[in-house]
Amino acid sequence: MKFFLILFISFSFINFSIAAEIGSKEMKMPKTFISGDPEKGSQLVDSCAACHGQSGVSISSEWPKLAGQNQRYLYEQLKYFRDGERMNALMMSVTPYLQSLKDEDLLDIAAFYAQYPISIGQAKNDEELLALGTQLYRFGNMKKQIPACTACHSVYGQGNSLAGYPSVAGQQIGYLTSSLKAYRSKERNAGESSLIMQSISENLTDYEIDALANYMHGLYK
Ligand code: HEC
Ligand code: HEC
Repeated sequence: MKFFLILFISFSFINFSIAAEIGSKEMKMPKTFISGDPEKGSQLVDSCAACHGQSGVSISSEWPKLAGQNQRYLYEQLKYFRDGERMNALMMSVTPYLQSLKDEDLLDIAAFYAQYPISIGQAKNDEELLALGTQLYRFGNMKKQIPACTACHSVYGQGNSLAGYPSVAGQQIGYLTSSLKAYRSKERNAGESSLIMQSISENLTDYEIDALANYMHGLYK
């Protein structure tokens, strides 16, 4: 009995300190989370710069920015591409290269891109589109069973690095649009987390997707 009590107390203590840690430095990874080495990662990304930029800021609206994206999300997606679970014609060109790397290398690549600041975009100044994007992103649409995006991607779009929910702030419009459509058509289906986005995007119209993409592209803190 005494033993269990001690166990219970120490567990509560651990929980309490974790909660305190999260509370005090919101969005930063706790020290216990494995983290890659950005220095090593910098040696592994020569073949990526043509599309994703030297420091993770892509030049085409169709190609995702990786700068400031959280490590956990990047690491998971890189494994999906390497293992053929997430498919894309352009990423296919580096799939054999990714297959030659160890998990540890992928984590280093993730750390490399995560170290850069998020790059801000500029939303189109279309009043109707902006109003709809703001409404949907912040409050969702109960009738259509669309939850508020803020719940997981946060008010300013930084996402949640502990949970590995991606940052969407300043992301390229073309990429945001095609991602939401790829979830909607269930073409993007790598990993369990993709199911969350499949069900959320199911009821979005093309116009609502345009509005959300425009809003997220212009989001910043
Ligand atoms: C020829 C262009 C091209 C090259 C080279 C390329 N990528 Fe990509 N990358 C893309 C495109 C396009 C996507 C979006 C795929 C999609 O829509 O599913 C993408 C997606 C990604 C994603 C997922 C981003 C997200 O937000 O989900 C990561 C991570 C990534 N690339 C890393 C890399 C790394 C690391 C390399 C180098 C080893 C690389 N890419 C090389 C074009 C490229
Ligand atoms: C319950 C949590 C949750 C909610 C609510 C949510 N998302 Fe997501 N979102 C995720 C997760 C987790 C992923 C990563 C899924 C994966 O691995 O494919 C994601 C991925 C995305 C991506 C792809 C990012 C990239 O870099 O490829 C976009 C875009 C996105 N969400 C937009 C939205 C929008 C818009 C809303 C609101 C209508 C929303 N999300 C609501 C959890 C959520």
